[in-house]
Amino acid sequence: MNVKYSQKKYNLKIKEYLKHNELYYDKNSPIISDEQFDKLKAEILRFESNNLNLKSKDSPSNTIGFKPSKNFQKSRHRERMLSLSNVFNAEDLRNFEKKIVNYLDLKNKNNLEYSVEPKIDGISASLTYKKGVLIAGVSRGDGQDGELITENLKTIKDIPKKIENKNFPDDIDIRGEVFIKNSDFEKLKNKFANARNAASGSLRQKDPAQTQKIPLNFIGYTYGFFESNKLKKQSDFIKNLKNWGFKTNQFNKVITGIDNLLKYHKEFEAKRDKIDYDIDGLVYKVNDFNLQKRLGFVTNAPRWATAHKFSAEKSFTQILNIEVQLGRTGALTPVAKVKPVSIAGVVVSNATLHNEDEILRKDIRIGDVVEIERAGDVIPHVISVDLSKRSKDAKKYIFPKKCPSCGSSIIKEFNYSTKKYDAVKRCSSQDYECDKISIEKIKHFISKDALNIDGFGKKVVEKFWDLKFIRTPNDIFSLDYNKIEKLDGWGRLSSNKLKYSIDNSRNVTLDKLIFSLGIRHIGQENAKLIAEHIENISNLEKIDKNFNFNSFLNIDGIGDTQVNSLKSFFLNKNNIQIIRKLSKILKIKQNIKPKNGKFKNKTFLITGKLEGLSRAELKNIIEKNSGKILSSVTNKLDYLIVGLKPTPKKVNKANDLNIKLISQKQFNDMLE
Ligand code: IVH
Repeated sequence: MNVKYSQKKYNLKIKEYLKHNELYYDKNSPIISDEQFDKLKAEILRFESNNLNLKSKDSPSNTIGFKPSKNFQKSRHRERMLSLSNVFNAEDLRNFEKKIVNYLDLKNKNNLEYSVEPKIDGISASLTYKKGVLIAGVSRGDGQDGELITENLKTIKDIPKKIENKNFPDDIDIRGEVFIKNSDFEKLKNKFANARNAASGSLRQKDPAQTQKIPLNFIGYTYGFFESNKLKKQSDFIKNLKNWGFKTNQFNKVITGIDNLLKYHKEFEAKRDKIDYDIDGLVYKVNDFNLQKRLGFVTNAPRWATAHKFSAEKSFTQILNIEVQLGRTGALTPVAKVKPVSIAGVVVSNATLHNEDEILRKDIRIGDVVEIERAGDVIPHVISVDLSKRSKDAKKYIFPKKCPSCGSSIIKEFNYSTKKYDAVKRCSSQDYECDKISIEKIKHFISKDALNIDGFGKKVVEKFWDLKFIRTPNDIFSLDYNKIEKLDGWGRLSSNKLKYSIDNSRNVTLDKLIFSLGIRHIGQENAKLIAEHIENISNLEKIDKNFNFNSFLNIDGIGDTQVNSLKSFFLNKNNIQIIRKLSKILKIKQNIKPKNGKFKNKTFLITGKLEGLSRAELKNIIEKNSGKILSSVTNKLDYLIVGLKPTPKKVNKANDLNIKLISQKQFNDMLE
């Protein structure tokens, strides 16, 4: 073969290889099968071994395994991008304020001022300006790391590239929502399912010229990093945003009092159809920055803000069948399979019936015409039956007497705080003794908030379970990729990609691991508290039936419900085995608590009522400064903070043990 010809042919093959590589990894839309792709690679390698002078830097022999998407660079947010809690009705909203009032120990409960802002249903972005120049634009990502999409964001006309205003901070992240107007979306309807997808798709185009083709808008509403913020209120910040040249929402308002918030919500809901972009609720933010700072965050949402969603969309449809679904905690949830119906642009074919009592109370039967509601991201549910449409054939549903997966008996648990039996029925078997529960537990283990194993979806868990590849979470780390590669619909590429994600997920923090174990009543926030309490993995491994579980009650936020659940989890040998195996496989990082604060190695206990702040807030202040809270007066205690009407027993004991008693004022002086 002539050399020139070989070179040309080789170059063409490499070009083809690069194209498919990109389609597969960066665009997630391969147009050839894995087999064909493997064949192409093999051809190139053979070519190279026959023509030793030929080897491109892009040769597959230079790229080992899977390379992560190179479309966008990852970029860490200087301040995390948080999400918002939701409220759906007046009661939720009153509770939201009650928690704030309690936490801050506010005397006058009726004068909390809120910045009220429409919640645009778009894509949030963070823009970094240094000396007035837009130097970086980042997508939200997982809140910690986003994608660097500066060039795409720069194509949006509402985003200033350079700000000359003298008052504009030297170093600031401006955050807001990127969205598309409904009238513009009309023209793109056949390309995207909804306006939000269109905005997201457009923003993540590889080529900014493609982004520019779709008319995106930007409205600013908050900040991330903000060098020397001297402003006092959110509403002042919004005013400044406008002066600096950003678009802000014309419907933003400052409102005091829950009744007034509810009034504005009602008015707004009535007119939201007339606004040319999707709004899914109102955001209420405590207006005073000082109070925001005191309130702080819970997991990944601020205590000082919430989103009040607009009421859900409803529709009528028919129940075709009722099935019972088994969840990872053993709960048996009846689900109505309904004739598919579109509710606010989403096709619904399942609706939850919650539990047996609900079915009986609403007298829901198979064949009934029912009204279904879909609120936000929550699973649609059946509201009521249209009895006028009930046919003679409508069939009563008989709830199973045994677990449909493992045949164990079904139980109702007694709830010690409500002093009643739960409405939910559960499979009585222990963790990992029931197949379906095991599958659901593994799904939880790999899910986004847990180990977050990319490309390992629920369907893959089911398939690997059926093939007996996995039985418990630790099996994920000893998968046989030679077998996986040969499965239908797989291939070397997809199997490499999975291996890459699984290997990546080995680095976890202790709280993530605890959360991913799927212990009932132990959500992300509780997992964090427990991780900080037990400090490291070897302490977790030591927990068995002899452990003093009541020591968990010392943690503020952990109560009897959680302790009972932890107890039953650790009484099960399977669970202990799994933790021991995982501890060998994973690289578990300790949750780092700031250790160098003012109160390092100092312990505190509070007795009596405090003034101007709650115990929860004082406790957070102590912990933020590396101090520790104890639950009783022992000789390990350094300070007893004595408020109004203290418990005499505690004060006496502290005196006996020569422990320092301090007033709230003295504590404040120590903090200064
Ligand atoms: S403030 C710390 N303000 O809602 C508070 N967010 O669920 C978080 N959003 O990712 C951001 N309008 O995309 C804030 N006026 C507004 C908003 C808003 C829409 C979105 C944003 C965020 C999500 C939080």
